[in-house]
Amino acid sequence: MSKVTVVGAGKYGSTTVQRIAEADIVDEVVMIDIVEGLPQGLALDMNQSRPVQRYRTKVLGTNDYADTAGSDVVVITAGLPRKPGMSRMDLLQVNAGIVKQVTQQIVAHSPDSVIVVVTNPLDQMTTLCADISGFPKSRVLGQAGMLDSARFAHFISEAAEVDILDVEAVTLGSHGATMVPVPSLCKAGGKPLVDVLDSETIDELVDRTRKGGAEIVGLLKTGSAYYAPSAAAAAMVDAIITDAGTEMPVCAWMTGEYGISDVYLGVIAKLGAGGVQEVVQKSLTDTELAGLREAATAVKEKVEDLNAL
Ligand code: APR
Repeated sequence: MSKVTVVGAGKYGSTTVQRIAEADIVDEVVMIDIVEGLPQGLALDMNQSRPVQRYRTKVLGTNDYADTAGSDVVVITAGLPRKPGMSRMDLLQVNAGIVKQVTQQIVAHSPDSVIVVVTNPLDQMTTLCADISGFPKSRVLGQAGMLDSARFAHFISEAAEVDILDVEAVTLGSHGATMVPVPSLCKAGGKPLVDVLDSETIDELVDRTRKGGAEIVGLLKTGSAYYAPSAAAAAMVDAIITDAGTEMPVCAWMTGEYGISDVYLGVIAKLGAGGVQEVVQKSLTDTELAGLREAATAVKEKVEDLNAL
């Protein structure tokens, strides 16, 4: 029996559960939260959508980690979302406490699982989860690049007036200021992006992508984005559960690729059974490579903040 657990039944968690359930690729999705009644109510509602949406996956809402036992993949969304004006770093202290406690429970109940972290600040939370779990690094990864690349693709599609499904967009690096959009790997309508948009426009889209989360937070006033984020997390779960070997931009542990080691960084990786099967090195321009190395240094510095907690 295949089983996925999503920790946190807030906006991000519950939409992720819905997307995984509707994909109909696992027997059961467990949604766990500390708030009593919330995951149970959402699960009941989702289960009742099954005859209409035509899927069989069952959703179980719970406050008890015993129900998560033996999960193949666990997604951690538990934590506070960013409020307007709040940086990801502001979230560090409170979310570190939550991720630590959640990770200990996952290890106790699903010792063979792959953990996908989405709680912000993403790079630190992924590192913390890997450290606390003691899992091989390939079994702990973060979601950021899929989302940032999707946002970049949307902006490219609008600016270039190209079908969204005909856009290939890639961002690497970290989830935040040192995100590295990679125009040289992007295509619009089958053509290299640099042949479709002028460099000034590309720079504007890159900037908007970097601030993509904050733009939505500013509009919503309370809470942060969850439709595109949950789509990204669910796609990663799908690739792992189905052992697809799909190349995706994710936050993965670096072991010398691009000359970078010992840090969780946004790169293209092959996802399948067991999590990250391989970090795939792409050929980057000198500027893009320098940006990636800069991001690695920035993440290493931020990770040191964890030691100060
Ligand atoms: N265990 C389980 N669930 C928890 C815990 C915990 N220890 N602590 C908090 N939660 C739950 C809350 O009860 C809430 O239901 O996490 C949920 C968070 O939901 P939202 O506030 O709606 O936040 P959401 O938008 O889902 O974002 C979650 O994703 O993008 C990131 O920055 C964002 O870190 C945040 C996370």
